Amino acid sequence: MHLIEVRDEAHVEILRQLRNECREFMTHHNKYISPRQQTAWWKKVRNDPDHRLYLLSMVGEHVGFGYLRKFGNPPNVHWWSTYGLAKKWRGVGFGVELVDRLLRTVGNEEVWADVLRSNKPSIRILRAFGFEDARGQTTNDRLIVLRRKCGDSRHHTH
Ligand SMILES: CC(C)(COP(=O)(O)OP(=O)(O)OC[C@H]1O[C@@H](n2cnc3c(N)ncnc32)[C@H](O)[C@@H]1OP(=O)(O)O)[C@@H](O)C(=O)NCCC(=O)NCCS
Repeated sequence: MHLIEVRDEAHVEILRQLRNECREFMTHHNKYISPRQQTAWWKKVRNDPDHRLYLLSMVGEHVGFGYLRKFGNPPNVHWWSTYGLAKKWRGVGFGVELVDRLLRTVGNEEVWADVLRSNKPSIRILRAFGFEDARGQTTNDRLIVLRRKCGDSRHHTH
């Protein structure tokens, strides 16, 4: 199992399919993404270092995706994270693998995530990696905003 960076058109298409498979769990933009929309978006972000896109891959198969979007400049960098697994790979522990690998790519920088309150597996994983409620941020009865503070690279306790 490893995390690979999305670099070419073939990867971008796999990312699109995985993201569409996860769209009901996305917090803001959860509409279906067409190949054409994906291509237009990729043109905008492909050379932007503030967008980091990954696939979680096993031999011959891509099982999930991760997306980190950077805001701010040092020392106030924070990343927003989104991720998901293909349906058939959920419920067997790969979510932990995915989040672990994504967090390693940002080292000690702060990471934020907003999650549907109903998404218990995702919330459980983030909390296990040290994410806490981001007080004062937009939380409502539908969404919770979590953050892992700078320097808190504690690992889960499974
Ligand atoms: C969210 C997601 C990444 C989680 O990964 P996963 O490998 O399927 O997660 P698991 O089934 O291993 O569950 C993770 C943890 O939550 C726990 N859990 C699962 N369902 C739960 C529930 N209904 N209530 C409480 N805990 C629950 C599991 O027991 C596990 O905890 P443990 O490791 O301490 O036993 C994956 O389900 C997914 O891709 N979902 C669709 C997309 C998505 O939601 N992305 C995140 C958007 S923020």
